[in-house]
Amino acid sequence: MKTLAVLCLFAELAFSYSFVASQPGIKNTHFLARRQQSGGANPGGPLNCPFNPDHIFPTPVTDQFPYNSAKGGKPGKGIGGYLVPAIGDEAHKFIAPTDRDIRGPCPGLNAAANHGFIARDGITNYTELVDAVQNVYNMGYDLANFLAVFSIFIADGDLVTKKLSIGCDATTRTSFNPVLTGSQPGLVGHNKFEADSSLTRNDFFLGKGDNFNFNGTLFGMMTKTTGGTFDLEGLAKFRYERYVQSRRDNPNFFFGPLGVFTHGAASFVYELFPSGTEGYVPNLQNTAAFFGAQQEADGTWSHIPERIPENWTTRQKPYSLLDVGGQIFSMYSKYPVGFGGNVNGKFIGLDFPPYIQGGNLTAAKPSDYACLLYQLVAGPIPSSLNGIITPTVTALQFVLTAIGGESFTNLGCPIPLTK
Ligand code: HEM
Ligand SMILES: *[C@@H]1O[C@H](CO)[C@@H](O)[C@H](O)[C@H]1NC(C)=O
Ligand SMILES: *[C@@H]1O[C@H](CO)[C@@H](O)[C@H](O)[C@H]1NC(C)=O
Ligand SMILES: *[C@@H]1O[C@H](CO)[C@@H](O)[C@H](O)[C@H]1NC(C)=O
Ligand SMILES: *[C@@H]1O[C@H](CO)[C@@H](O)[C@H](O)[C@H]1NC(C)=O
Repeated sequence: MKTLAVLCLFAELAFSYSFVASQPGIKNTHFLARRQQSGGANPGGPLNCPFNPDHIFPTPVTDQFPYNSAKGGKPGKGIGGYLVPAIGDEAHKFIAPTDRDIRGPCPGLNAAANHGFIARDGITNYTELVDAVQNVYNMGYDLANFLAVFSIFIADGDLVTKKLSIGCDATTRTSFNPVLTGSQPGLVGHNKFEADSSLTRNDFFLGKGDNFNFNGTLFGMMTKTTGGTFDLEGLAKFRYERYVQSRRDNPNFFFGPLGVFTHGAASFVYELFPSGTEGYVPNLQNTAAFFGAQQEADGTWSHIPERIPENWTTRQKPYSLLDVGGQIFSMYSKYPVGFGGNVNGKFIGLDFPPYIQGGNLTAAKPSDYACLLYQLVAGPIPSSLNGIITPTVTALQFVLTAIGGESFTNLGCPIPLTK
C-alpha cells in the first residue's frame, strides 16, 4: 500500500512538473522560470570550481568546547549566549580560505567554513550543516534541518552521499555517481535555492552567471538604505529596492515562492549576526565582518574572507522555523510585492496555491509563511534526480521522510504530499 501511494504520488509529481523547468507546483503554464544553469567553464561551473584534494572533516564539538553540543545531525541544547569561537579552541579559529577552497552565496556558511565548523574546502554534508548552524549561530534545530534538507536533498546536492558544495559545481566530489546523477550545481544553482534580488549578490542574468560573489556596490547600497542599522525596517526597505531594481533591469527576473527565502535570509542579518557583547543590536562593523566587507579609502567596499567578529556571542534563544516565518511576514508586510517573473518584457504573476494567487501573496500569519516553505520543500525534484536516472520510488520516499513533516504539522500546515 505504501509503495503504491508513493508511486501514485510520483506520477503526479512528474506530471505537474513537466511544464515548468524549475518551479514546480506553479500553475501558469505559459510562464517559465529559466534555470540558467551555469555549467562548463562559466562562473559557478565545474571547470573553474576550486579543487582541494585534501578534504578534512571539521573538528566536532567536544566537552572542552561544547557550544550547543550539537553532534551527529541531532538537536543540540539550544542554549545560546556563548562566545564563538571559544577561547583556546584552536580548531575553530579563523583561517582564510585558499584558492582551492569553495565559497558561495551564503555569508553565514562561508564564515562557518572559514572557522572550520564545516569542512574548510567548502564540501559539506547534512550532518555538518545541521550541527554547524546550531553550534555557531544557535539556529533552531527545526530550521537547521529544514535548510539542510532543502539545500542537499531538494536543491543542489546529492541524495545518496548527502553532500553539498557551498558554492560552485563540485559534482565529482558530491555525487555518488556523476554519470547517473548528472550535475549538482551546489548552492550557486540558480532558481533552486539561490534567487534573484539578493542583498549583496548579482542576479544570475545581470552578473553574466556570477550570482555568488560578494558585490561591494550592493553592500554599499544596503549600508546606505539601512542607515548602517541593518534592522528589520532597513532591510525590508532594501529588499524592496532590490526587487524594484531587478524587476526593472533583469529581463529574466524571477521572484517565485522561493523569494520568501531571501526575505528569510535577510532576517538572519539582524537575528543571527548581532552579538550579545553589543546588546544584540546589529551594526556596521559586525555586519561587515560576516559579509567580508572591507571599506576602502574612497568609501567603496571590497571583499575579504568572511569571519566571526572578535568577542562575538550567539543569540540567546534558538532561531526557529516559526521565528523566521514571523520575520518574513513582518518584512513582506512592510513592502508587499508581486510574485512572478518577467517574460518578453512583461511581468507575469504566478499561482502557488493556496498561498499565492495571481502573483499576490495571501499568506496572512507567520505560520502561513512556514507552511509555504514546507510546501516548497515538498515540491521540487532533487537535483540528484536530474540526470539520466529515472527517479526510484525509494529515492523519492527518502526525500519525503527526510523532510520530516512533524515540525510543520505542529504549526498546523496542511501536508501537501506525504499523505
Ligand atoms: C544549512 C544552512 C544554510 C543554507 C543551506 C544556506 C543557504 C543560503 C543560500 C543558497 C543563499 C543565497 C540566497 C540568495 O540567492 O540570496 C543564502 C543567503 C544568505 N544566507 Fe544562508 N544558508 C544557511 C544558513 C545561514 C546562516 C546560519 C546564516 C547567518 C547566520 C545565513 C545568512 C545568510 C544571509 C545573510 C544571506 C543573504 C546574502 C545576500 O543576499 O547577500 N545563512 N544562504
Ligand atoms: C558527514 O561528515 C561527517 C564528518 O564531518 C562524517 O562523520 C559523516 O559520516 C558524513 N556523512 C554523513 C552522511 O553525514
Ligand atoms: C555590482 O552591482 C551593481 C549594482 O547592481 C552593478 O551595477 C555592478 O555591475 C555589479 N558589479 C559586478 C562586479 O558585478
Ligand atoms: C575583546 O575583549 C577583550 C577582553 O575583554 C578586549 O580586551 C578587547 O578589546 C575586545 N575586542 C573588541 C574588538 O571588542
Ligand atoms: C495582485 O492583486 C491586484 C488587485 O488587488 C492586481 O491588480 C495585481 O495585478 C495582482 N498581481 C500582482 C502581481 O501584483
